[in-house]
Amino acid sequence: MNDIKYLECITSAPSSTANLGPGYDVFGLGLNALEDIVCLKVIKKAKSNIDNIKIKIKGEGNQSIPIDPEWNSAGKVAKKIIADYYLNKYDFIINIEKNIPPGYGMGSSAASAVATALAFNKIFELDINDTKLLNYAAEGELASAGVKHYDNISGSFFGDFVIVKSKPELEFIKIKSPTNLAMVVCVPLIDVPKMKTEAARKILPEEIPLKKMVQNISNACTIVAGFFNKDIQMICNGIEDCIIEPVRQKLIPGYQQVKEGALGAGALAFAISGAGPSTIAFLNSKTKGSQVSNVMEETYEKLNIKCKTFICNSSKGARVISLK
Ligand code: HSE
Repeated sequence: MNDIKYLECITSAPSSTANLGPGYDVFGLGLNALEDIVCLKVIKKAKSNIDNIKIKIKGEGNQSIPIDPEWNSAGKVAKKIIADYYLNKYDFIINIEKNIPPGYGMGSSAASAVATALAFNKIFELDINDTKLLNYAAEGELASAGVKHYDNISGSFFGDFVIVKSKPELEFIKIKSPTNLAMVVCVPLIDVPKMKTEAARKILPEEIPLKKMVQNISNACTIVAGFFNKDIQMICNGIEDCIIEPVRQKLIPGYQQVKEGALGAGALAFAISGAGPSTIAFLNSKTKGSQVSNVMEETYEKLNIKCKTFICNSSKGARVISLK
């Protein structure tokens, strides 16, 4: 890598959903509903050696996102890469164009983290392999979830469906989604706590009865088989979670009504998207998408809650847009 005076790299990373019901912390799916765009600017430092990261955010929910690098998902990624690769002779400006609403279960923090890791890798020609790159991106999840989890970042980075195998070695198993798999994500615009994911994890049971574990494993395996076979009905048959959903649904107003409405309007399966409060309905084509989204919207309207819906397919993952 030649000495850099000034370079900027623009990257994007899509929204994602995690868990798909029984695959808590294991399943990620990239969604082409929305994407965050990151412009990383690298400037050769004039004097001191103190690392300097400036984060600027515009767009969706920007006021609720901390710009202190220690508390920002992109900032945490940047700090770690700068330290590991001795890049503190540069100043960094990270401009984030937020399109994915932060804190609602659509992988917003993950997308900014992924796009930032990708931009560093590109600008400095670091040649970081995918697993290591996602390990850097997962640093960003510490800012919102308090722990590293890889489901959203892997879905956002690779696109399509990803299984996270975490132990003993971190590994990502990617399976292409059936092209006609369609989703409707519904985002209720309720107030969410600052560290929402952390809060939604704290309420989960630490131990689970064997019977529930068996039921969730059998559903999770059905989902995996469905993706392998490109069989949407099979995928949807597995999207049923008897461990997390009963606990977390209490954080989502109108959850059962929205679920019943979506399934009644033709959705084949329904789940909490990630840690919520968004929900996600699965369909075998976009044809019934607007029918399902209308019902979800009407249900929230009756509850006097504003919401946004997105009809989407699987995404193709994160990408470098430009380097100059
Ligand atoms: N697997 C994580 C959780 C996803 O459910 O807490 C957070 O988006």
